[in-house]
Parts: sequence; structure tokens; C-alpha cells
Amino acid sequence: MRKLLPLLTTAPHAGGRSALTCRYRCGDACFHEVPNTSDNEYVGDVIASALSRRSMMRAAAVVTVAAAAGGSAVVRTATPAEASSRKPSATKVDGARGLRFAPVAPNTDDKVTVPAGYEQSVVIRWGEPILRGAPAFDPDKQSAKAQAGQFGYNNDFLSLLPLPGERGRQVLVANHEYTDEVLMFKGYDPENPTREQVEIAWAAHGLSVVVVQEEHRSGKLTPVNRHPLNRRLTATSEFEVTGPAAGGALLRTSADPSGTKVLGTLNNCAGGTTPWGTTLHGEENFNQYFAYGSSATDKRYGIGSGATERKWERFDKRFDVKQEPNEVHRHGWVVELDPFDPDFTPAKRTALGRFKHEAAQPRLTADGRPVVYMGDDERFDYFYKFVSSKRMKKGGSRAAREHNRTLLDEGTLYVAKLTGDSPAAEIDGTGKLPNDGEFDGSGVWIPLATGDVSHVPGMTAEEVYVFTRLAGDKVGATKMDRPEDVEPSPRTGRVYVALTNNKDRGAAGKAGADEANPRNGNKHGQVLELAEHWDDPASDGFAWRLFLVAGDPDDPATYFAGFPKDRVSPISCPDNVAFDPHGNLWISTDGNALGTHDGLFGVATQGERRGELKQFLTVPTGAETCGPIIQDRRVLVAVQHPGEVDGASVEKPASAWPDGPGKLVRPSVVAVYRKDGGDIGA
Ligand code: FEO
Ligand code: CA
Ligand code: CA
Repeated sequence: MRKLLPLLTTAPHAGGRSALTCRYRCGDACFHEVPNTSDNEYVGDVIASALSRRSMMRAAAVVTVAAAAGGSAVVRTATPAEASSRKPSATKVDGARGLRFAPVAPNTDDKVTVPAGYEQSVVIRWGEPILRGAPAFDPDKQSAKAQAGQFGYNNDFLSLLPLPGERGRQVLVANHEYTDEVLMFKGYDPENPTREQVEIAWAAHGLSVVVVQEEHRSGKLTPVNRHPLNRRLTATSEFEVTGPAAGGALLRTSADPSGTKVLGTLNNCAGGTTPWGTTLHGEENFNQYFAYGSSATDKRYGIGSGATERKWERFDKRFDVKQEPNEVHRHGWVVELDPFDPDFTPAKRTALGRFKHEAAQPRLTADGRPVVYMGDDERFDYFYKFVSSKRMKKGGSRAAREHNRTLLDEGTLYVAKLTGDSPAAEIDGTGKLPNDGEFDGSGVWIPLATGDVSHVPGMTAEEVYVFTRLAGDKVGATKMDRPEDVEPSPRTGRVYVALTNNKDRGAAGKAGADEANPRNGNKHGQVLELAEHWDDPASDGFAWRLFLVAGDPDDPATYFAGFPKDRVSPISCPDNVAFDPHGNLWISTDGNALGTHDGLFGVATQGERRGELKQFLTVPTGAETCGPIIQDRRVLVAVQHPGEVDGASVEKPASAWPDGPGKLVRPSVVAVYRKDGGDIGA
């Protein structure tokens, strides 16, 4: 029934991602040699966890066998014809609560495709003015000054916060991960960018805060231009550095001898929203903006030894590592922003370590301390958590707010080590399930540093924070298949980690398959489920298993939590994850290696439908689906890098989204809602 298009990869770029994406987004991270050349074993002498894994899993009450035998009504992927012919009433489709929609079929259409009975509209596009005095977007008259007051480029992580006192309004916070200069500027010459183009790119990076207005009786959102909370932070805005590494010798530069003030945030990928109403933003592939790296630590972070793609080093010497060796240490952190306080200088929180931060997702322990989960998105890199030593203060007072903005400066940083419970011989690299029927096992959180105290032999605490990847190498952390976004379930407390892919798993000289990363040459990725006593700040053990092993369900090397595979949508390269109000996990993809466009999927994590994965939308040509937010009546996604296809340019666009032929392709945020105004998936 389901015929997928042949895979059109341009070797050696991973998955279905174009070479253009690799160049501009991650500085060819997947093309370059893996930076982790440490020889720490993936399975070693693991400290026995005090945790009883089996009891935790029992508590999790998983009913995969029941689901297989459950005989629930068949939900299959609709063909495009079926999907488009369905009337709104056809949204009464069987499925878990919150997932009752007709799945969207995989496709290569240059548009946002949503289930029958749903509609969608653009909330905000790259270049729309949000600050007072900013002009309307004019592709022929772009300027850095205009861009600094307009919505940035390549929206990624999104947060939507209620705005007290203003009915029907919410505060939208967006990351702007990177710029695609060839798709932004007519006649762009990559060898000779102009100062104006470079400064526009600086202003198009960073973060946006923009208040949005809900439309009565629909899920539609429109930006409120010039609202006093609206704010832009760019590659040249001032950020404060806080926490145990702030002010240290490794962070001082000629422009900032204090080591506490940094200009700009770069490559903000995913993030998180804190229980105290601030937002966290991961600085991911920051390495690509810095030229002429030479040290061993530069190498471990992928800082190239040559010029950069965007040539920023020609216009500001801080991007030249030869001239300013410590500036690069001031990027690769988690940024905390208070969207409700326009006077607050956003902060880089050094206690959370420095690596290619994909995301930072917090929650609270039983005694009110934040725990933050974080992935380092690189092949063979690690998964981390931070546990604060301070407790959150409740209430909206100024004093509480100021206190809570210090919670991420004191605590312990840990890295994960995972061990499988099946014999190594049963993990053969094909993705075949071991005899116990699951890829699963136990793990420990290895402490790296607490405040000024290092737990890593041979490294000071300051070195642990600034060179966290090397600390992970030394303690034998588990090399993962690109840990991306992470989200704890608000219902069960279990944590879900997207592991996007790893084409080098099992390659000559590289780590081979292990139970948590069970496929060599892993093209499609997996989703890990982790259970721990998270409400106990001292908890250092966990149980884990793979919830999904992604791919075409017809491929025997896939797994959907044991749910019958003829009833699920194909999925490849899980990236961002979010929960809906019903406890279903929603997963967006980046680099679909099945030959169709990226999309957004919902999957039940509990009950007899656990593992029943359904595709909710697809994005236009060249785009990735980012920043999903699932509210009762709306789904919000960031359509990132539409038209980013090899050979494309302003003159030769590969996509006409969102405004049709003849108009510049523009990354945009999209809201999806039901035509009848009802709840999503009800
Ligand atoms: Fe920016 Fe790891 O994706
Ligand atoms: Ca097992
Ligand atoms: Ca991502």
C-alpha cells in the first residue's frame, strides 16, 4: 500500500538532509570526522545501580503484548487521495485520546499538509517586524538595523507562555538557529560576503520574544507588533556569563577581561521552558562560526582549522581563534531568558556545561530543585543532567523571580552511562531484538562537578565546565547516536530522548552497536525511554529501554514499543519531542531518510495503544519540523529551512512556501487547529 520514494542522499551527508543544510546549519558536522576519538568503552565496569530496574518497569505498567493482541480498530496511514477527500467529520478517527485524527500520508508536497478536518496558518514569518520602528520586510532593502527589529531566520525551538492580565494573549519565544545566506540574499557570493550581509546574518541569529493574540473560536494566532514584551536578541546582544566557570581565565578575552560579558548567542537549537517561567536555549553547532582552531580542545569541539563558511572572522576578529583563542569558549552554553522581564540580561549558565547543546528540559524534584536533562547532538556524544542544589521559590513576587533566576548556577552536572541487560552477542548491529524482547538495561549518572569541586581526575572544575566533552570522555560516558531533544512525561515522569541517527556507528575504528544504539550505520534513529527516581535529587541510577527504533515499519529493524507495525506511520530521524495534555509524545523529524518530507508525529506512551505512532503533518520541500507545542486546541510548529535544497538560491528557489511562486522562501511558525474549533485529536 505504502510506496516510498527512493532515497536521494548526496553521500556522504547523513540521512535525507541536503548538503546545503549540512553547510549552513551544522558546519558539515555529519561530513566531518567524528570529534570524539576517546577510547572509553561503551560497556565497562558499571557501578551496580541500587535501583531495581524490573520494579521500575513494572511500575511503568507497559502493556505491549496486550496492545498486540488488543484487536483495536485498525488505524493505517491514509493515502493522499483518502486524506484529502475526507470531510471534517472524518476527524472522528479511532486512536488514543488526543490522537484521533486520520494520519497524513508520507509525501513530497511543497506545503504544510495536515489531517482532514484541520487547517493551518502562518503565525509569523522571518522578517516580520516585531519591535517599534522596525520596517515591513522588503527582500530588496534588507538591512541589519531592520533585521534587528524583525523576526529572525530559521525558527527552531518554540515556547508559548500564558500572559497574565492580557486575555487571549500568549508570549511566543523562538530560537533562530542559523542563516542560509544563499536563500536570503540575491546574488550571494559565498567567497565574498559583504559587511552588510554579515551584519544582517548576525541580526537574524538569536532569539525572538513576541506576544501573540488568539483568534476567538479558532486556534489561529497573530503577532502583536510593538508589544512592550517583544524583544530581539542577536549575535551581538549582551549576555551575562554566570555560574562556577564565569570570570575564569578560560573565558577572558581582550574585549572582556572580566570573562562575564559575551556578545551574542549562536546556533540556538532546541530548548526548554522552566517551571519558574523562563526559557532555556541550547547553543548547538557554535563551532562553525569560529575559524583557525588548533588546540586539542578545539578539535574535540569540531572547531575547524581553516576559514569558516560565512567568513565572519573577516569582519570581527573574535571569530578568529588564532587572534582571540578564548572567545569560542564563551559559546556552547545553555542560555536562560526571562521573557517577562525586558530589562533582564539573558545569561549563559556555565554550571550546565559546554557542548553542542541541543536542548535543556527542566523539571522539579520533590523538594523543589530543578533537574535539567540535556543532549549533546553529535555522533558518539553524550547525554547529561544537572541537579540544582537550590529550591525554587513559588509565587510571582519580584524576589521569587530573582531568586529563581539563580537556580541553574549551583548544583551537580552528571553524564549518563548506559548498560544493556542482554548478552553482547545478541546485539548484532542489525536492529534485531535480543532474546528478552527489548533493547533495555540500566544506567548510572556519573557526577562531573559540583560547584567548584571537580569529580573528574586530572581536570579542575573550571575545565570540566568549559571542556565538558573531555570530562565525559574521561569518565567513560556512553557514546550515543546524536542525543537531541529530551522531554519528561508529565504523566509518568519517564524521560524521552530523541537519538537522531549515526551513519558511523559500527564503521571501521568507531564504536559498534550496543543495546542503546543497536544499529550499525544507523540511518533512522531511535527514541530512548528512561525511568529514574527523578523526584529524589540524590538519585544516580536509572532504567532505560528503547521506546521506538525508527524507520519504515516494513523494515524488520524497527520497533514501535511492541505495537503492531502494520498500524503505524513510517518515521525517520526523530529530533524534537513534546508532550500533549493527554500524555502522548509528539515527535518532529529532521532529515527523513525514507525519501519523503519531514513531519510531526504523535504516539501514545501508555495503555494498550502505547507505540501507535501517527503522522500529523508534513512540511514543505527542504524543510525540517521544529519546536512542536501541543496545546488543547492548537499545534504549533516551526518550519525551519524551507527550500534548503542543493543548488537552490534566491534566484532558483526549490520551494514556493509560504507565499507562493515569485516570493522569497521564508522560515515561519505555523499554527494548526481544527476547522470546527474542537480539541486536537479529540
Ligand atoms: Fe539543531 Fe541537533 O539539531
Ligand atoms: Ca534487553
Ligand atoms: Ca534539532
